[in-house]
Amino acid sequence: VRETGVLFFIFGATGDLASRKLFPAIYSLFKEGKLSDKFAVIGLARRERSREQFHEDVLRSIQEFARYKASPDDPEWGRFVEHFEYMSLDINRVEAFNELNIAAERLEEQFGIAGNRLFYLALAPDLFGSVAHNLKAGGLLQTAGWHRLVIEKPFGFDLPSAEKLNKEIREVFEEHEVYRIDHYLGKEMVQNIDVIRFANAFFEPLWNNKYIANIQITLGETVGVEDRGGYYDHSGALRDMGQNHMLQMVAMMAMEPPSRLHPEDIHDEKVKVLRSLRPFTSAEDVRKHVIRGQYTEGQANGRPLPGYRSEDKVNPDSTTETYFAAKVYVDNFRWAGVPFYIRTGKRLPVKTTEVVVEFKNMPKNVYHGRKTGLEPNLLVFRVQPMEGIYIKINAKRPGSEGVIVPVAMDFCQSCQVGLNTPEAYERLLFDAARGDSTYFTRWDEVALAWQYVDQIASAWAEDASDLRMYPAGSWGPEEAQALLEQDGFHWWPVN
Ligand code: BG6
Repeated sequence: VRETGVLFFIFGATGDLASRKLFPAIYSLFKEGKLSDKFAVIGLARRERSREQFHEDVLRSIQEFARYKASPDDPEWGRFVEHFEYMSLDINRVEAFNELNIAAERLEEQFGIAGNRLFYLALAPDLFGSVAHNLKAGGLLQTAGWHRLVIEKPFGFDLPSAEKLNKEIREVFEEHEVYRIDHYLGKEMVQNIDVIRFANAFFEPLWNNKYIANIQITLGETVGVEDRGGYYDHSGALRDMGQNHMLQMVAMMAMEPPSRLHPEDIHDEKVKVLRSLRPFTSAEDVRKHVIRGQYTEGQANGRPLPGYRSEDKVNPDSTTETYFAAKVYVDNFRWAGVPFYIRTGKRLPVKTTEVVVEFKNMPKNVYHGRKTGLEPNLLVFRVQPMEGIYIKINAKRPGSEGVIVPVAMDFCQSCQVGLNTPEAYERLLFDAARGDSTYFTRWDEVALAWQYVDQIASAWAEDASDLRMYPAGSWGPEEAQALLEQDGFHWWPVN
């Protein structure tokens, strides 16, 4: 990136994602010296904006959301922002893309960029196809450097729509040029899953159905649907979080060690996991293994919270799920019989992402009869807000006569003074710019995840009588507890 440079095209430059994540990410990369002076950014949206107004937008976004401070009086700020241009663009007009190409060539010449172009579509997915088409028709892909397309979720609504979208994109870009974002894969501790697994002698030998009783993945959110009611009511938790972030995390936990750390090898291993997901046999089977819920009025910290059906742009009779919990099986040799319990919801009591590995009990409790029940060993990946690893083991209570108590070894990575972990988007944008697709999703992963989720969605579409209500600010429907209790387990409390 530093040597041959990169030109970023941000489609949707006046939108929320650009200001919350993308501009701050580019700024961090600049501050950390990961971008040399050979870079430029063209912000694109329909709205008219002058160059100065755009620079003010970028400054505001960075002041509000970036890890590094920015001040307009700082000469370094001037050096940064001079790389930013804005162009109002009607994405349906090929001529507008011709003009864009001329502007792009000018910037490439000015900053010494060797024709490397990264197109970031922070747009509604139904526009992906025509933008891709016009990029080609407008001559934007005729440079000596590389061309990459970065796209945001949702990648389709179900398998057929995802296939259609993919086909449109692939008419213009090769698979290796398409970077599908799943921002959970950019999170520090999600990226740490494979390191903890494959770089530690005391985990990998135990990583199978002989020693692991179950795996629990929780993605809890305290927020409701905020101003995204229109999108969310159509999507729901299963499509919004399950198809992408949660199944990706299942794949990372379950995959075989790749023979090399090459992106394609990692994608191949993840695909094998997704292909091994146990299919559902009937709508009844779905209901047995998947619980869905919707929040009603409730409260958090003494503050009243509205029910989902009275949120803005939500159908007052909506049966969209804001919560789901599922028991997922990976039917292969390593995982036969080990349930993966996954759950996510809006308006839960805490914002948290955690993965808990519960180990099986010792074959025999030799401490039996000493008022001691042994608790299972746990390994917990804390993804957010706190980042770290937590291990629960059994030890003798000091001074006691063989009383065994669980003790914790808690490694809090985010507590280290001065540690300022990069945001997921920083990492992903940088990876896309240097051509590393490891933490993006390949088409076959996306397709298999849709295939799995579609079975659930179509059973749900037939009959909504299993939708359970839960008060906002609670841990979701009680049936989600029963899902584990029937197997003799329970959800481990999250921190
Ligand atoms: C997004 C979902 O993919 O992830 C949102 O569309 C959700 O509904 C968000 O709020 C959660 O991301 P994070 O990084 O805040 O855990």
